[in-house]
Amino acid sequence: MDLFEKLKLNRGPLGSYAKEVHGYFTFPKLEGEIGPRMFFQGKERLNWSLNNYIGLANHPEVRKADADAAANFGMAYPMGARMMSGNSNYHEQLERELADFEKKEDAILMNFGYQGIMSAIDALVDRHDVIVYDSESHACIIDGVRLHMGKRFVYPHNDIKNLETQLERATKLVAETNGAILVITEGVFGMSGDQGKLAEIVELKKKFHFRLLVDDAHGFGTMGKTGAGVSELQNCMDGVDIYFGTFAKSMASIGAFIASDAQVIEYLRYNTRSQIFAKALPMPLVIGALKRLELLRTQPELKDNLWKIVHALQSKLREAGFNLGKTESPVTPVFLNGSIPEAANLIYDLRENFNIFCSMVVYPVVPKGVIMLRLIPTSVHTLEDVEYTINAFNAISGKLRAGEYERAMEKVL
Ligand SMILES: Cc1ncc(COP(=O)(O)O)c(C=O)c1O
Repeated sequence: MDLFEKLKLNRGPLGSYAKEVHGYFTFPKLEGEIGPRMFFQGKERLNWSLNNYIGLANHPEVRKADADAAANFGMAYPMGARMMSGNSNYHEQLERELADFEKKEDAILMNFGYQGIMSAIDALVDRHDVIVYDSESHACIIDGVRLHMGKRFVYPHNDIKNLETQLERATKLVAETNGAILVITEGVFGMSGDQGKLAEIVELKKKFHFRLLVDDAHGFGTMGKTGAGVSELQNCMDGVDIYFGTFAKSMASIGAFIASDAQVIEYLRYNTRSQIFAKALPMPLVIGALKRLELLRTQPELKDNLWKIVHALQSKLREAGFNLGKTESPVTPVFLNGSIPEAANLIYDLRENFNIFCSMVVYPVVPKGVIMLRLIPTSVHTLEDVEYTINAFNAISGKLRAGEYERAMEKVL
């Protein structure tokens, strides 16, 4: 069969809807300065869809640092991979500062979180080792696990009893292969907003021998007293052997890092294929990340304000009777019941008549008949934004219950 013919016939689970949804439900264009108010299809909307948690995307000091670095260095420098010709004092300074912030011996920068963690997983284990991971892990972890040539055992999301069973199986297996065990989970699960049970997993080290890798993409900068993440909040930073954070959320940029023991970071520097065979982060991203980290450390009010908005939004939604699932983080899912056409009508109403822009998730990501609206509060939202949104949500959920969204979808595209 011709490959292109085949791709035409099977366009993938989301791709099959592309014609109907492209530009509105998928690949929407948010325009204007990043913040709570952005333009969508020419109209200003109240925006709850960006992981700009502590409002750094448009912070004047950040914008200036980014612009100055771009003017001084351009986007090319340094050229080449870190190992060959792309290293700089700034890259190393950022790594030291990130390691200090996470109370680890050393850190390594990654160009993108996704490739970084995937490739780090690939580098850390060989066919004699066993990976044990949470069933709701992010796609980048799943892809890292797919590269693994040895056994992998999955445990149901946050089910520590079952994790213990998997660790028993893994322990028996590595005794035969002379391998090691790597457990992988997340700090904050980005869809549901609940936390990985890091402290409980660390406790299991008393019974089993393993190392723990935590993807804290959503926790870095938002969770814990200093923003060092969920392990800081759960008081188990030492027990997290390998800490992963991305710059794509709280830091409002691109890039990522892994922090760990010096020897492990050195190993990763020389063995992580996605970094060895790829160009180093350009200087504006590195200098920009240094500025962001400085603000994260020195302006705790950014995180305090985020949490003021989080508490207001989540408590008012709960008071109004909305189901927010198990969130324990700024990620705010709102679970409603309805079909996919109802979900489309509801989002259309929310966007066009209430001027609120948020993300929507439907089957197969959530069970059939469930509509999940996902709100991301940030430090730059206001309590008035919260109030307005609660009223709008009351209105749309009333209409949903009254069956008003059952009629055929209006032409929105
Ligand atoms: C849990 C988690 N891990 C990793 C990533 C990937 O990070 P990046 O956007 O830096 O590639 C994301 C971002 O989408 C994420 O949510």
